[in-house]
Amino acid sequence: MATAVFGMQWGDEGKGKITHLLARDAEVVVRFNGGPNAGHTVVHNGETFGIHQIPVGAFYQGVRCVLAAGVVIDPWTLRQEYDELTDRLGHRPLVEISEAAHLILPYHRLLEDLEGSGAKIGTTLRGIGPAYRDRAARCGIRAGDLLHPTDLEARIGAVLAQIRHSWGDDPRIAELSVKGIVEDLMETVRPFLPRIADTARLLEDALEQGKRMLFEGAQGALLDIDYGTYPYVTSSATTFLGLAQSIGVALAPVSQRIGVLKAYTTRVGQGAFPTELDDVSGGERLRERGKEFGVTTGRPRRCGWLDLVALRHAVRLNRPTGLAITKLDILDDIETIHVCRAYRLRGEVIEWMPGSARDLEPCEPIYETFPGWMSSTREARSVAGLPREARAYVDAVSNALEVPATLISVGPEPEATIISGFESI
Ligand code: GDP
Ligand code: IMO
Ligand code: MG
Repeated sequence: MATAVFGMQWGDEGKGKITHLLARDAEVVVRFNGGPNAGHTVVHNGETFGIHQIPVGAFYQGVRCVLAAGVVIDPWTLRQEYDELTDRLGHRPLVEISEAAHLILPYHRLLEDLEGSGAKIGTTLRGIGPAYRDRAARCGIRAGDLLHPTDLEARIGAVLAQIRHSWGDDPRIAELSVKGIVEDLMETVRPFLPRIADTARLLEDALEQGKRMLFEGAQGALLDIDYGTYPYVTSSATTFLGLAQSIGVALAPVSQRIGVLKAYTTRVGQGAFPTELDDVSGGERLRERGKEFGVTTGRPRRCGWLDLVALRHAVRLNRPTGLAITKLDILDDIETIHVCRAYRLRGEVIEWMPGSARDLEPCEPIYETFPGWMSSTREARSVAGLPREARAYVDAVSNALEVPATLISVGPEPEATIISGFESI
């Protein structure tokens, strides 16, 4: 039986907290998109961890942690995280890597910086876009290539020659040595070499054997390369639609699909955000209370009200069987809570999210208001234990999206969770 967890907004919904909680019962946990642009926060035995590359199954001894074909891997980040987790947890994570997963090499990060994607899109500068671009251009280096390293120098050399053609004047590019990259790479990936495999076959076997599997999404539906707010998106497929392609299993029986959404909205980087609040009208208050600063880059996150129009779009892409509503506690002291029900676009009221930035940018939110509960939800452990107004808020979201709220999170720790109608994975 398989469960998948997806972000329903622009990332940072609390997927790390939710997947860590569910992974307790898992035998296999799979990352299927993105790379170290992800920053998943986990509170494990009272200690806080920021995880970028390894699936959260790593927290539990003996759980297989698979990086599927659709993931891009920064070998240096992977190794550093692996060593750190081994040290802090006292056991070695069982990492398995798809031979088809692409590697992020040092020139990818440099290119992203030189091309100005940080300023234009607000990317995380982790080399994500350039690595996926090399995949599409068929000059990428894949994990499976590490098992036959004889031609690596020649292949990386050919890519570097192309890059030097455009950027050779930059001293950081000029300094890169093919031999140096390959030597450092092979030393860094040493512990993982025996675990690079055709993971599609392994995952199909595990699914057939009825293993308890968890698919851990990164980013969120609105950052999807095709169906997100293009061009202000990441470079991978972030929804259920992309899962089969990434894991290489056409009919994976993913019976539970959990859509994670924050009780309000945040976004990092550029791009339209119809319900954004400026600092004076409450954005700063949400940011401070919700500690909305990036795990990967430390950047302040833009904050605003919940957007049901955008969430309905995410529902279409993921068809969740349940919602995990996180950070409800951050709204504890807000007198009047706003929720966007529709947009006004050039005088017309619309209830769907426009696919182009040209049409999304002028959209103005039409709000419905809810009375706040003005009391703490931090200790609530059942729906009945929530203040009446908080229950009404959760019900309104769940009804509008026509998906039951099966998990409600009221704090970063795993125990600060209300589980309602969710079957163990
Ligand atoms: P992810 O990328 O989706 O895993 O989310 P991040 O880890 O980037 O951001 C979510 C932040 O909210 C982290 O700091 C979590 O520890 C924290 N968090 C998650 N759920 C809750 C919650 O219900 N209440 C509070 N107060 N914090 C939460
Ligand atoms: P998690 O998994 C929030 C955003 C970046 C930028 C855009 C493109 O923690 O939810 P990229 O580096 O991917 O090319 O950047 O996508 N972004 C995220 N925002 N959470 C993330 O991951 C993100 N991963 C990428 O801020 O706007
Ligand atoms: Mg994050």
